[in-house]
Amino acid sequence: MKPVHAGGRIVVFGSLNMDLVARVPRMPGPGETLAGHGFFSNAGGKGANQAVAAARQGAQVAMVGQVGADAFGAELGTALHDNGVDVTDVRATAEAPTGVAMILVDDGAQNCIAVIAGANAQVGPADAQALVERLGPGDLLLLQLEVPMDAVQRAAAVARERGATVVLNPAPAHALPAALWPLVDILVLNETEAGMLDGQASVDASSAAGVGARLLQRGPNHVIVTLGADGVVWTSAAGTQHFDAVRVQAIDTTAAGDTFIGALAARLAAQLPMADAIAHGIRAAALSVTRPGAQASMPTLAEVARFAP
Ligand code: RIB
Repeated sequence: MKPVHAGGRIVVFGSLNMDLVARVPRMPGPGETLAGHGFFSNAGGKGANQAVAAARQGAQVAMVGQVGADAFGAELGTALHDNGVDVTDVRATAEAPTGVAMILVDDGAQNCIAVIAGANAQVGPADAQALVERLGPGDLLLLQLEVPMDAVQRAAAVARERGATVVLNPAPAHALPAALWPLVDILVLNETEAGMLDGQASVDASSAAGVGARLLQRGPNHVIVTLGADGVVWTSAAGTQHFDAVRVQAIDTTAAGDTFIGALAARLAAQLPMADAIAHGIRAAALSVTRPGAQASMPTLAEVARFAP
């Protein structure tokens, strides 16, 4: 098994969205109009969320991505900067508006999200060139699937050439090109994404270990399946380990997965063993679901340290 020897910087190559969030008592059906009971906007996008989650856990983080040359884009850049994320390689394009996510959150804390990619769809393989300067041995590259797949694949290849560790979160769920699998060191995915990649409807605590073992054979060294209230299952060549979830009163699960991944990466970058990093990620994600929003909900390192569920 290839060990994770991180202990360096984190670079996120991915999406930035402005999240427009409506609170509703329950999810409306097709054609139904429903009275909501709250609205707010906050910075989101799976890439930017993971960057902020890692930065709030004390990591040195840089973001590579694109926003539109508009007010939302400026706001998202400021949000990252205010969290200590290096935004030198977040470009504002005149060719598309900033990405937007329309989010419904119901009284059961579940969400429904429609993403309009906007400038995120303009990210291409050439943007991965920025990673040549930014990545080296010990650094981590975090990838998701809210920017085009050819750009994701090129970014992973550059990171590999530079000796960095590649962490892929295949979200939103999408089949991966064969050439991308062997470029991935750590695959982090939820039950739906795991089911999709393994050709099943979904995955639960009893099937996650088998799915993890099969996905491991395609190239990654670590497969980490997040199962919400059923915890996390980590599979590597050393075997499988289950981690219990932390019980909390959830009010909004948006970006819980992003919080987990950012916190996990931050702890790996601080040279903690994988099991400790996973346990830390679970605690950070548990705190995030007790608060509304995406980046607005993410805890600091001190908050996770103080957290006594
Ligand atoms: O993972 C949560 C994120 O998904 C939201 O912030 C939204 O922007 C979508 O990208």
